Amino acid sequence: MQVYQDKQGVQSTIQEFKKNSKIVGLVPTMGALHEGHLSLIRQAKHVCDQVVISIFVNPTQFNNASDLEKYPRTLEEDLKLLKQNFNDLIIFAPSEKEIYGNDILSEKFEFGNLETQMEGKHRSGHFDGVGTILKRLFDVTNPDKAFFGEKDYQQLQIVKKLIELTQQDVEIIGCPISREENGLARSSRNKRLTSKEQDQATFIYKTLEKARSEFGTKNALVLKEEIENLFKSEQDFLKLEYFEISDANTLEPVGETIDSNKKYRAFIAAYANDVRLIDNIALN
Ligand code: PAF
Repeated sequence: MQVYQDKQGVQSTIQEFKKNSKIVGLVPTMGALHEGHLSLIRQAKHVCDQVVISIFVNPTQFNNASDLEKYPRTLEEDLKLLKQNFNDLIIFAPSEKEIYGNDILSEKFEFGNLETQMEGKHRSGHFDGVGTILKRLFDVTNPDKAFFGEKDYQQLQIVKKLIELTQQDVEIIGCPISREENGLARSSRNKRLTSKEQDQATFIYKTLEKARSEFGTKNALVLKEEIENLFKSEQDFLKLEYFEISDANTLEPVGETIDSNKKYRAFIAAYANDVRLIDNIALN
């Protein structure tokens, strides 16, 4: 395993692989690695000759200073976990200065309607921050493919759009959501919940499953309202931020009628104490 903190070091190592026509895959992460990340890496290793993992808590994508401050930073444990599970990874773990110099600022991107709802609506500037870091990481690591979990489904759509905008030659690959046995979507933020709280948070997944089983049997707007009401009537612990049923490609919210040619997904963001959790599910 080779670990780099500088752009030049990682870049020249990756260039050697590319010169030899090796397929390079990037798995961008913010660290606090868990089984969900490992499953992304396994998928990347399956289709790439060399896999690069970036570990960087990107300040420009946090719209809330305390969320950034509390975000787990566990580089040593992360490296240990990677070493235990894989033997030939390249790790890029830069400092803020290496990525941003003295200006920790986002670029502005025209993501259109993809960023005006859900995460974009509730986390102002979030996707400009995500776009800024990924554009830089793609520039430095020059991957053939990059792997993203569908838990951040809106982010996945945004990254596909980013590639269109920047014309960077990277294939974006979405990977299925990795879940705990109780259904909770794996997330670095789960580390901030006790195991009892993690059990309580499975209400999110149970609600998504309910939405999936009832989708198509009733007006989608009625279903949406029913789910919102469930959070009000059955939950003291979780505070719903949004529940949406949306077109899986454009992320436009569903209307009263469902178009049978389209794919839909349901999306939830909810707070467990001050920990913000998101999840989503394919409905058809
Ligand atoms: O999904 C994440 O962990 C982050 O948004 C990403 C893609 C690593 C960019 O900082």
